Amino acid sequence: MLTDAQKARVEELLSQMTIEEKIGQMNQESPSIVGGFSVPFPELIEMLNDGRISQEEFGQIMSTAKRDFHEDDIRAGLVGSMMGDDPVKANELQKIAVEESRLGIPLIMGFDVIHGLRTVYPIAIAEAGSFDTDLFERTARVAAKESRAHGIGWNFAPMLDVARDSRWGRVSEGPGEDPYLASCFACAKIRGLQGDRSSAENYVAACLKHYVAYSACESGRDYNTTSMSISQLHNVYLPPFKAAVEEGALTAMASFNDLNGVPCTVNPYTLRKILKGEYGMPGFVVSDANGIKECVTHGIAEDDMDAGVQAVNAGLDMDMGTHIFKDHLKQAVEEGRVSMEVLDDAVRRILSVKMWLGLFDNPYVSEENIEKYKKLPQEHVEVALEAAKKSIVLLKNEGNVLPLDRKQKISLVGTLAANSEEVIGAWAMSWKREDCVTILDGMKNAGANVTYYACGGPEGEINYDEVKKACEEGDVVVAVVGELVSMSGEASSKAETGMPGRQREMLQAILDSGRPLVTVLMNGRPMALGWEGEHLPVMVEAWHLGIQMGNAVAAVLLGDENPSGRLASSFPYVTGQCPIYYNHPSTGRPGSKSKFTSRYLDAPFKALFPFGYGLSYTTYEYSDMKVQETADALEVSVNVKNTGDRSGTEVVQLYMQDITASLVRPVKELKGFTRVPLAAGEEKTVTLVLAKKDMGFYNNEGEYVLEDGKFNLFVGANSEDCLSEQVTVKF
Ligand code: BGC
Repeated sequence: MLTDAQKARVEELLSQMTIEEKIGQMNQESPSIVGGFSVPFPELIEMLNDGRISQEEFGQIMSTAKRDFHEDDIRAGLVGSMMGDDPVKANELQKIAVEESRLGIPLIMGFDVIHGLRTVYPIAIAEAGSFDTDLFERTARVAAKESRAHGIGWNFAPMLDVARDSRWGRVSEGPGEDPYLASCFACAKIRGLQGDRSSAENYVAACLKHYVAYSACESGRDYNTTSMSISQLHNVYLPPFKAAVEEGALTAMASFNDLNGVPCTVNPYTLRKILKGEYGMPGFVVSDANGIKECVTHGIAEDDMDAGVQAVNAGLDMDMGTHIFKDHLKQAVEEGRVSMEVLDDAVRRILSVKMWLGLFDNPYVSEENIEKYKKLPQEHVEVALEAAKKSIVLLKNEGNVLPLDRKQKISLVGTLAANSEEVIGAWAMSWKREDCVTILDGMKNAGANVTYYACGGPEGEINYDEVKKACEEGDVVVAVVGELVSMSGEASSKAETGMPGRQREMLQAILDSGRPLVTVLMNGRPMALGWEGEHLPVMVEAWHLGIQMGNAVAAVLLGDENPSGRLASSFPYVTGQCPIYYNHPSTGRPGSKSKFTSRYLDAPFKALFPFGYGLSYTTYEYSDMKVQETADALEVSVNVKNTGDRSGTEVVQLYMQDITASLVRPVKELKGFTRVPLAAGEEKTVTLVLAKKDMGFYNNEGEYVLEDGKFNLFVGANSEDCLSEQVTVKF
């Protein structure tokens, strides 16, 4: 990661540091609010979350609140990292760190840039569904540039939690339910964030989170316990982290949850042995906010000091949100509970990442860059638009109601269609209202003959007079329904993931009118849509697509874009099916019509819409699957034909099933995919290569094994609709 000269510089610095200065590097601060509030800060957050104040109002309050930026501590060398997205403030603080602290060590400024900073692109679960690794990389590159221009050198991203239970609100932040797709997403994000080192303005250090298995929280309840076999940990939850480290990822964030009884903040197995040892991640590990202190609440540490000692010894290098390292580590070292070697290792890692970022040479954002990014760069908007278009999934299109004709009178219904705050999605904080394009704006921009009727949304009552008017006055009704942004993301688990509020009744009223109905979904999780799947003839999954949402949705509805997005997560009929995922282990009694099989009495055992699923305005036919064995791979080819009258892009997917393994393996596992553009009537032979080294799995000793035997290979349009061939492989 560093040149020899840079390494020597780090060592030289380390040798000059006092113990207080070393511990200072391991301390992260965020601006704290001081005084002046008639409501306490936690209540303000509550007010934001429950909708009493809008994101914009919250922003206004925060921008006028008096804040402590810990200048004195920075001057004294007691702060290694700060959070924030204000470039002017970042420059001010860097100046104090560099010019007024004894050793002049710059700060590393960190921030949550999960799906874009100012240019907010689709939430990860949506973007993953584009199955477009080049796109994953380009959106991250945009985020990296904008971050640097805001003084941020370190993004708390990508979020790589493989999530299979959509009761968990944070499914929105990650790349879905599949470890292979998540690994491809991870590598692309690392290339995008860290890859372009031609100038310090182009790259940031990535922070892999949440390490690890946070998404497996029991019953989908955020921060809850996780428990799993070692093989499951290695086969499902670790792969994207491993792939990201192999791609060069420098830092990681320890997750809040306990894993098999040991909180990930103080877990030597996951941190020291696997992440830093086996994977060899060269940078540092930060706790999640308040994570170290929570180990006392977990009942695993006697007090703050004990929690800090356990954390640092387990391999956690930086404290986010508590002052436990700052307040207790010195004594812990003096008492011999933490060795100087452990401390030096942590500090060396932090200094090395700062060195890699070029902060020792220039920690400041240039005036020119600050100015440049005050406006949204057009090329960034274009990437956000492309990402939004490619993330839209056509779920149903009975009677080919879509695409709509510009001449049709369109009644656009639902408050979500016209609220610019609702396009953004969870965990985005630096966007501006003026940049957001709602579906109503997008339809108007595209020249549609559209009239808007609010009617109602995820919260509150439905105005049936308006619904009636919308149905009477339009040739077609486009209803935008789903979830508010605040219904997914952190601390937004739900026990019932169906359509919130009275929106289902609103949809029923539109159906009753007999008008053609197109339903556009805006949501941050795969919702339980059994009723909708049965009753609604046309459904478009549009997630929270970011600032260009409206233009992208309009392009799809009006047929300027042929939808090519696929689901990165299975959709259940009812919440009780959660967790539901296509790649579940084979049971001895696979679900069927017969009673004594792995099924429910009152719900289907399959997903309503499976992983990898998505329609288009054209149709594709698969034929002639062939498997060719070479010395180190299986080459799987198939003919794919566009049998419709429009060009489109098909996402061809390759799956594998190991049917003679020493551990029960998944019924299918994604092993490859490619986007194939096809003109109307065009046929192509598509070949996907499965390397033999990738056909193994981890056993319960955490060892990767390749076992000879029989495998089923599948190629097709989604995880259910495939051609298949059986092969026998010797490794
Ligand atoms: C979240 C992290 C985030 C951190 C800092 C925590 O509450 O779990 O994902 O990076 O806050 O904002």
